[in-house]
Amino acid sequence: MQDVIDHLEQNQEAALEQLKELLRIPTVSADSAFADDMRKGAEFVHNALQEAGLSVKTIETPGHPIIYAEWLKAEGAPTVLIYGHYDVQPPDPLDLWTTPAFEPDVRDGCIWARGATDDKGQCWTHVLSVGAWLKVHGSLPVNIKFVIEGEEEVGSENLDVFLEQHKEKLACDVAVVSDSSQYAPGIPAITYGLRGILACEVTLTGPNRDLHSGSFGGAVINPVNALCRLMGMLHDDQGRIQIPGFYDSVIALTAEERAQFASLPFDESEWLADLGTDAPAGEVGFSSNERRWARPTCDINGISGGYSGEGPKTIVPSKATAKITCRLVPDQNPEQLTAALKNFLADNLQPGLKFEFTSQHGAPASVADLNSPYMAAAKSAIEKSFDSVPVMVREGGSIPVVGSFKEILGIDTLLLGWGQNSDNLHSPDEHFSIEDFHRGTAASAYLWQELANG
Ligand code: BES
Repeated sequence: MQDVIDHLEQNQEAALEQLKELLRIPTVSADSAFADDMRKGAEFVHNALQEAGLSVKTIETPGHPIIYAEWLKAEGAPTVLIYGHYDVQPPDPLDLWTTPAFEPDVRDGCIWARGATDDKGQCWTHVLSVGAWLKVHGSLPVNIKFVIEGEEEVGSENLDVFLEQHKEKLACDVAVVSDSSQYAPGIPAITYGLRGILACEVTLTGPNRDLHSGSFGGAVINPVNALCRLMGMLHDDQGRIQIPGFYDSVIALTAEERAQFASLPFDESEWLADLGTDAPAGEVGFSSNERRWARPTCDINGISGGYSGEGPKTIVPSKATAKITCRLVPDQNPEQLTAALKNFLADNLQPGLKFEFTSQHGAPASVADLNSPYMAAAKSAIEKSFDSVPVMVREGGSIPVVGSFKEILGIDTLLLGWGQNSDNLHSPDEHFSIEDFHRGTAASAYLWQELANG
């Protein structure tokens, strides 16, 4: 084992250089202008896995390609499926980046680039650890399968079909995903629960063109006003979501879990100060960690319509659009709740409007077994590399594949996040601590041994 760790230490510079190369490819899955770069990203991942010593296949999908790789020579040992994604969120707003999003920069002990932590940097820790085992020993203590996709940030739409079609090939004992965070600097974590998600878009059209707000205003429906009214109806003053049936299947937090959340160190005022706000918000009766990890939400992600350029413009706009996502908890059903949201909006629509509703994607929440031998192996691997016992947390973000792994392959996922919540994922100035990158890589290398020891 120590020789693998030594090898990784001796090759840290090269590891960082390889990550930088990947970060230079702007793999923005949401925007078709980046289609060529998505292809380059897929090729890069394919070649790197091949160089690491695995047999690799690029699988085409109606969207962006999936890279599958395997090394299956550890007879009788467990089989681990490692998942990651090479796509990233759009880098906008570009002017808020200190250095350009796709020109990785090393400063203050971190690497700064879109995808540094979500998920290229974190995913790469496993590519490196597997490569190190194969380089040093010519073998691994467990069988390894990699699935690295290019559509996580747009809802993993083509992944389930791939999982269904390759169910036998993907058979394994447990999945490992590093696409979450540590609890705080110096406090590594294993994430045992994630929220699910539903995403949709609603467009209201009023008059067939923008109108003079003096000549027409007050006498014809204004879709921006109407949309704001509708959006204002989504929550009551207690922060409760008003969509009928929304909470019906929510599994309530147990007293034990609430106590466990409350036992984690959390300075709420410091957390708020870092975010530049001075009061928490959300559903009355729940703590901030409960609200963000284990309670459902409904967020308007963006509203557009009318004039938003410089200076005033006196119009009644023709159209208004809102993008909405709900974070879901066990056992909420994304399809049912998308329908419930659509009905709620349509039922409360004022007359004179055309209503269009598009469902974009959905994934259920997940909670893993805290007492599995895989959890114990992960705890031990993390402790060895981070010199600290990981805490068990749930997270508010969504990784759609985790639900699919459970449903289609029947396996639990170990969510081992090496990043920090302060890494600015999805924001300008995304970064990843270089120390966390290397510690995550070492933890990954230990993990294969720990899983083999059972
Ligand atoms: N890495 C995140 C998910 C995450 C964030 C997990 C924070 C735990 C803590 C992942 O890449 C992500 O952003 N997922 C999307 C999924 C969505 C587009 C379907 C998300 O949660 O918004």
